[in-house]
Amino acid sequence: MGTKRYFIHTFGCQMNVNDTNRMGEALAGLSYSPTPVVENADLIILNTCSIREKAEDKMLSALGRYRQVKLQRGALIGVGGCVAQQEKQKILDKVPYVDFVFGPDAIGKLPEILTRIEQDRVRVVETAWVDSESYVFPQADPVSSRGKTTEFVTVMKGCDNVCAFCVVPHTRGREVSRPVAEVLKEVARLTTVGVREVTLVGQNVNSYQGGSSFAQLLLRTAQVPGIERVRFTTSHPHDLSDELVDAFRVEPKLMPHFHLPVQSGSNEVLVRMKRDYTVAQYLERLGELRAVRPDIAVTTDIIVGYPGETAADFEQTFALCEQVRYDGQFSFVYSPRPKTIAMLKEQEWGPVPHEVKVARLERLNRLQKTISTEVMSVHVGRTVEVLVEGRSRTNAERRFGRTPHNRVVNFDGDAPVGALVEIAVDFASSSALGGKQVQVRSLPNVVIEEAPVVPEVCVA
Ligand code: 5AD
Ligand code: SF4
Repeated sequence: MGTKRYFIHTFGCQMNVNDTNRMGEALAGLSYSPTPVVENADLIILNTCSIREKAEDKMLSALGRYRQVKLQRGALIGVGGCVAQQEKQKILDKVPYVDFVFGPDAIGKLPEILTRIEQDRVRVVETAWVDSESYVFPQADPVSSRGKTTEFVTVMKGCDNVCAFCVVPHTRGREVSRPVAEVLKEVARLTTVGVREVTLVGQNVNSYQGGSSFAQLLLRTAQVPGIERVRFTTSHPHDLSDELVDAFRVEPKLMPHFHLPVQSGSNEVLVRMKRDYTVAQYLERLGELRAVRPDIAVTTDIIVGYPGETAADFEQTFALCEQVRYDGQFSFVYSPRPKTIAMLKEQEWGPVPHEVKVARLERLNRLQKTISTEVMSVHVGRTVEVLVEGRSRTNAERRFGRTPHNRVVNFDGDAPVGALVEIAVDFASSSALGGKQVQVRSLPNVVIEEAPVVPEVCVA
C-alpha cells in the first residue's frame, strides 16, 4: 500500500471529466496517487465516451497502446464511462487484457472492484444503474479542486429528452436532479480552497428539478459568498424558460455566455431529430436573450449529414450560422449510435454519403473560423476582464484565463491564480486573445497553491 499509481485517460464531455475526479477521490482512499505518465501506472482506467463512433474508436486504439504497460508492469486495466455502460461484458469478451468494466454509477464501488480482482483473481463487470429514488450524488472533495479557481459542479445526471440521434439516454439513464441544498453546500466548500467561478453542469440543466427552478438555483449560487462568476451547461432550447432569460437581466454574476445547441437550421431535419422546436422558435428565444444581454456570447452544437439531410437543408444550417454569428460551434458529422431512432430509420430517411458529410462539415468550420476571428478581433485595442486560471498552455512564461464571455486570453503578467485582472488586448485569433496585464482588480481570499497533477484529458 501507499506506492501505487493510477493513470486515467478521459474521453468525452464535462460529465466524464467530473467522473474522473471522483475516480481519483475513490482511489485516494486506497492510497493510490495519480501519475501523468502511463508507463509508471499500476492501474490504468479509460473513462470512455460513446457519443460518436470516433470516440469509441479512439478508446480502442488507446487500449491497444496501454496493453504494453500491462505486459511490462502487470498494470490493471479498467474501462469506465459510457462505452462501459453500453457494452458491459462485451468489452471483456472483445478485449482479453481488460480486467474490469464499470459504469458511471459504479464509481463509488471502485475500491470494492479492485479488492475483488486482487483477492479472487476475477474479471469484474459493474454496470447496474442506480435509479432516481436511491441515487445519491457524490459530494466532491474540495481538496481535489486545490490549485483551481474555476470548477464544475454536477447538478443533475441523465437525460429525459428523446433526441433521435443521441445515445445519452441509453448510457446515462433518466434525469435525476441533485437537491439545491447539496449543490449550494458544495459550492460553498469549493470557495474554501479558492474557487471563485463555478459552472453548473448536467446533460440538460434547464429541466432541473432539485427543489427549485434552474434559474433560481443559478441566482442562489451567485449569492454564495466568495463566488464571483456563475456559468452553466448544457441547455435544450425547448425548455429555456422566461425565468432563465430574466436571470441574465438581474444577476451580473451570471456570465454572458450561453451554449445553446441548435443541431440543424432545417425544420424538416429538426422534426426527424425530435428536437421539439422550429428554427423560428429558436431564433425568438435567442432574440429574448440578446434583448436582456445584448453582448451575450452564444455557442452551439451542429450535426451535419443527418439521415435525409438534403443540400437545401444544409444551406439553411449554413445560413442560420451566418445570421446568428455564433462565438463558436462544435460541429460533428452524424454518427449512427446503437439503439437510437436515427440509426433504426437511417435507411428509410436516406443516409448521407460520407464525402458529402465531410465536405459540409468543412464548409461550416470555415465559416465559423471567419466569424470567430471577426468576433475576437473586435477586442484588439480594448481591455477585457480575466479570471486568472494558471500558466498558459502554449507558453509557460505567460498566464491564461477567461473573459466573462468565456474567451480564452493568454497574457504577460504576474497576477496569481484566482485574481481578476484587466488585460489590454493586442492579439486575436479565432480561438484566443493575447495581451498584457494592466491592472489587478481583486485577489482571491485564499492563496491558491500550484495546480495538482491533472490526468490526461482527451476530448474525443
Ligand atoms: N452523431 C453526431 N453528433 C452527435 N451528437 C450527439 N449525438 C451525435 C451523433 N449520433 C452531438 C450533438 C450534441 C453533442 C454533444 O454531440 O451535437 O449536442
Ligand atoms: Fe458525455 Fe455523452 Fe460522451 Fe457519455 S456519451 S461521455 S454523457 S458526451
